[in-house]
Amino acid sequence: MPAYICGVGFHVPAHTVTNHDLEQRVDTSDEWIVTRTGIRQRHISQGELTSDLGAQAARAALADAGLTADAVTHILCATCTPDSYCPNTATQIARKLDLRGRMAVDLNAACSGYLYSLQTARALVTLDPRAVVLVVASEVLSSRVNWADRTTCVLFGDGAGAAIVCGEKSGRGVEIIDALLESDGQYGELLTILGGGSARPYTLGEPVGEDFFIQMNGREVFKVAVRSMTDVCQRMLARHGLGVDDLDMFVAHQANLRIIEAVGKKLDLPAEKVFANVQRYGNTSAASVGIALAEGCADGTFGPGQRVLLTTFGSGFTWGAVLLQF
Ligand code: UT7
Repeated sequence: MPAYICGVGFHVPAHTVTNHDLEQRVDTSDEWIVTRTGIRQRHISQGELTSDLGAQAARAALADAGLTADAVTHILCATCTPDSYCPNTATQIARKLDLRGRMAVDLNAACSGYLYSLQTARALVTLDPRAVVLVVASEVLSSRVNWADRTTCVLFGDGAGAAIVCGEKSGRGVEIIDALLESDGQYGELLTILGGGSARPYTLGEPVGEDFFIQMNGREVFKVAVRSMTDVCQRMLARHGLGVDDLDMFVAHQANLRIIEAVGKKLDLPAEKVFANVQRYGNTSAASVGIALAEGCADGTFGPGQRVLLTTFGSGFTWGAVLLQF
């Protein structure tokens, strides 16, 4: 069964935090952050919930698809920073869209959540070709950032990306040609948000520790990220008999400009085919590729006839690639 993305949208909080703002909080510099990551600013929630950002992105995707919310049959929310453990964030996005009676479920594959959700939506559409699946990838990472830890606090931002997936070539009519999604739990300790989970429960009155926040071995993550995204993209191209010349654009997880450029180089892609907006949003985890796709559609970077390859990498580790035909 073919599956299509018929609309995309994104939303970020209005409030921005620049590298110079961060210089006031931790021992860092604009020069260090730009040189090591490419990031210049990030959008940070001022009380907006993951479901608020997600509902806004969903509205934009519905408008892009030319649909109203009541057309939606399933809601998937990719997030590792949900509003709460229970209820899940998908039900709260549905509530904000005034939707009842639909399957609404969260999916946590960290930064790979958008691609994992697209594949899940594809499966739902295969089960029922009339399904209209709302995929929302939304994060308020700032709620789990240790603002005293310079090695992580400069990297992340908040935001949401959304897509409407259906079985008919309508709206944008972008076909999801193929998906390769993979994981390896042996790397679990290298990138974590532990505190509050069953591996690190808190007791009443106990103050949260550093493990409540994002902790990362940046150097190791960097190496495996470049290797995994390059490898999965090469296998995706090989299984369709495609070369890099057959790609019009390449969108990697927006974590770090150096990682994006390194993967682009290893794949032999010319720089102009390698999408980047990490400079303005930082690493928004699951939302990153969703925001990239929606922003690129809105400004004409992606358009009819193009073949676009998406790839992500995140905690778990999880990674993958999705091939799109516009
Ligand atoms: O979304 C999931 C995927 N996540 C990622 O892809 C992130 C992957 N990792 C990275 O992007 C990079 O490893 C970082 C940007 C996190 C770090 O860059 P790096 O080139 O690997 O730097 P490093 O960790 O090797 O640190 C170099 C130095 C250290 O000082 P010493 O030990 O050499 O004296 C750090 O303490 O830079 C120091 N440092 C900083 N200095 C100023 C670390 N963070 C900062 C900072 N400002 N914010």
